[in-house]
Amino acid sequence: MSYLQVKNLYKKYGEHTALKDINFDIERGEFVVFVGPSGCGKSTLLRTIAGLESSSEGGIHIEQQDITELHPSKRDVAMVFQSYALYPHMTVERNMSFALKLAGRPEQEIKDKVGRVAKRSSWKNTSTASRKPFPADSASGLPLAVHRAKPQGIPV
Ligand SMILES: Nc1ncnc2c1ncn2[C@@H]1O[C@H](COP(=O)(O)OP(=O)(O)OP(=O)(O)O)[C@@H](O)[C@H]1O
Ligand SMILES: [Mg+2]
Repeated sequence: MSYLQVKNLYKKYGEHTALKDINFDIERGEFVVFVGPSGCGKSTLLRTIAGLESSSEGGIHIEQQDITELHPSKRDVAMVFQSYALYPHMTVERNMSFALKLAGRPEQEIKDKVGRVAKRSSWKNTSTASRKPFPADSASGLPLAVHRAKPQGIPV
């Protein structure tokens, strides 16, 4: 059985159908890219999988559990936004640890997980970790947004 399954998914904004009968299966560990012209529904699809948009019809399953109606925080899905949506008043380190803090994880676990991701990134030194992310150029903004999603260890 596939890890992530999208079945007969529709998303309508009033009269406008942004997603029309989307079906696919993704295996655990697979890296998948959605490409298409502007406005074809890529972001809408990702937002619907993450639960930031409700589906109009159809379903989303993770490990055979129907998550279509599940709150975003309960879905085990992390999303990196097109606009990065970094927290400008927080340091790089705090940006990376914020989701785990919100989830109420213990301090030591947060430190370990953020440390492990930081070690694999270009923010190995503490001066970078303690820097505020802005003004961040696009070259450092996107990697930080990706690294911020990683310490959670979320599978999708
Ligand atoms: N909140 C919304 N209300 C109404 N229509 C929307 C909304 N969000 C997206 N749409 C419409 O849904 C369609 C899909 O938009 P979406 O943002 O998913 O496209 P995209 O493929 O991500 O485009 P881009 O490559 O420009 O990011 C577009 O026609 C867009 O205008
Ligand atoms: Mg988009």
